[in-house]
Amino acid sequence: MRFEGKVVVITGGNRGIGLGITKRFLSEGAKVAVIGTRPESVDPVISDLSNTDNEIRGYALNVADREKVEETFKKIAEDFGTIDVLVNNAGITRDTLLMRMKEDDWDAVIDINLKGAFNCLKAVTRPMMKARKGRIINISSVVGLTGNAGQANYSASKAGLFGLTKSAAKELAARNITVNAIAPGYIATEMTDAVSDEARDAFLRNIPLARPGQADEVAAAIAFLASDDAAYITGQTVNVDGGLVM
Ligand SMILES: NC(=O)c1ccc[n+]([C@@H]2O[C@H](COP(=O)([O-])OP(=O)(O)OC[C@H]3O[C@@H](n4cnc5c(N)ncnc54)[C@H](OP(=O)(O)O)[C@@H]3O)[C@@H](O)[C@H]2O)c1
Repeated sequence: MRFEGKVVVITGGNRGIGLGITKRFLSEGAKVAVIGTRPESVDPVISDLSNTDNEIRGYALNVADREKVEETFKKIAEDFGTIDVLVNNAGITRDTLLMRMKEDDWDAVIDINLKGAFNCLKAVTRPMMKARKGRIINISSVVGLTGNAGQANYSASKAGLFGLTKSAAKELAARNITVNAIAPGYIATEMTDAVSDEARDAFLRNIPLARPGQADEVAAAIAFLASDDAAYITGQTVNVDGGLVM
């Protein structure tokens, strides 16, 4: 029960990797605020996971909307009393080759994946600085390190998260707030269900552990970075990718 009494906010915590993260923190005693886009996608998950042992609440908003983010994080801090950990996990893809990529495909991915993380990070910074402690974990991707054909927008957003992570780590270290990134490889979720068979086979051929990762395997690394055991780790990226990038 490493997170007994701690309050954890997880964007995109209602499905895929985010749901794995939500379940992991709940199982270790945390109180969890889950952010998704719509009440219809968030509420059923909150009902499923609510029981006498778990304190979990849902919030529906677009993380790219700065005002809504500010308002919601204030509400979360009021509802739970504080915010100890932020996991910036919400993300989308709009994959297509550069020649066909529309301005809207670029803007939507950068707005949600990169500006969304900035908005949420900014919203927790003040309360965490006041508390003189905090943990922020940004979910990037191995393609932010390597690039990927058909994912110029997504790779750029995920590479941007590394710069955000390192800069925030430097700015916030004096207040005992650590900021780290996770770079998942190929994890079995709805996002990767949308990948073509050809692209999936290409990924799997290059993964030394020769299988897709699972959401709970990403969650385990995040829980470590949020724990007291990781107190002296900041500005780093942990790849959870079966050895895909090394
Ligand atoms: N799966 C992989 O192999 C893989 C690999 C590397 C990195 N990642 C990263 O890991 C994270 C989770 O991926 P996943 O595979 O679990 O994705 P997913 O199954 O598609 O889930 C995406 C989550 O993000 C939420 N979300 C999307 N846009 C949002 C917005 N504008 N505001 C608030 N929430 C929003 C969704 O909420 P709704 O349900 O309400 O739509 C959903 O909970 C993403 O950042 C992704 O880029 C995934």
